[in-house]
Amino acid sequence: LKFVCYSNDGVDEHMVWLIGLKNIFGRQLPNMPKEYIVRLVMDRSHKSVMVIRRNQVVGGITYRPYVNQKFGEIAFCAITADEQVKGYGTRLMNHLKQHARDVDGLTHFLTYADNNAVGYFIKQGFTKEIHLERDRWQGYIKDYDGGILMECKIDPKLPYTD
Ligand code: ACO
Repeated sequence: LKFVCYSNDGVDEHMVWLIGLKNIFGRQLPNMPKEYIVRLVMDRSHKSVMVIRRNQVVGGITYRPYVNQKFGEIAFCAITADEQVKGYGTRLMNHLKQHARDVDGLTHFLTYADNNAVGYFIKQGFTKEIHLERDRWQGYIKDYDGGILMECKIDPKLPYTD
């Protein structure tokens, strides 16, 4: 099992994983238009942290780092159906936090969580109260109804992965 983070960089293996991830999002996020998913997953300003097992993608999180604003917007998050509730979602989020802090220099995440995923995000340290100053994020992230805006502060020191 491994955790990797790639953008659309033209490397064959990375592209195979990104396409696999896009297909998982398509199945797990039925309310999201498929072309919107492809567009963001393949957009070079987005990155995807992926869980890879036996050279196959099992799930991932696609996010956009706003490096100057020091926050990241999580666009999509999913684990393939038969691998849910095994702890991959938690480990994935921990790898995302570690990467976003150490590589992108981010301090916070924001996401519009689906109602049924709010419990998962709360367990990952997200809150419905937004502490980040509004002028740091307003106008950067897209409004999206049918979701609840949630925030997570990334600890500056905590080792999130072993
Ligand atoms: N509601 C409440 N609690 C949940 C949910 C949920 N939907 N999913 C998982 N949990 C809990 C688990 O019970 C577990 O709790 P525990 O630590 O007390 O045992 C904890 O969250 C972590 O569980 P994992 O096994 O690590 O989570 P999993 O691997 O199943 O991944 C995920 C969670 C990504 C939400 C997965 O279930 C999934 O893909 N769901 C369908 C797609 C989805 O809803 N994605 C999020 C949409 S919002 C967005 O993308 C911005």
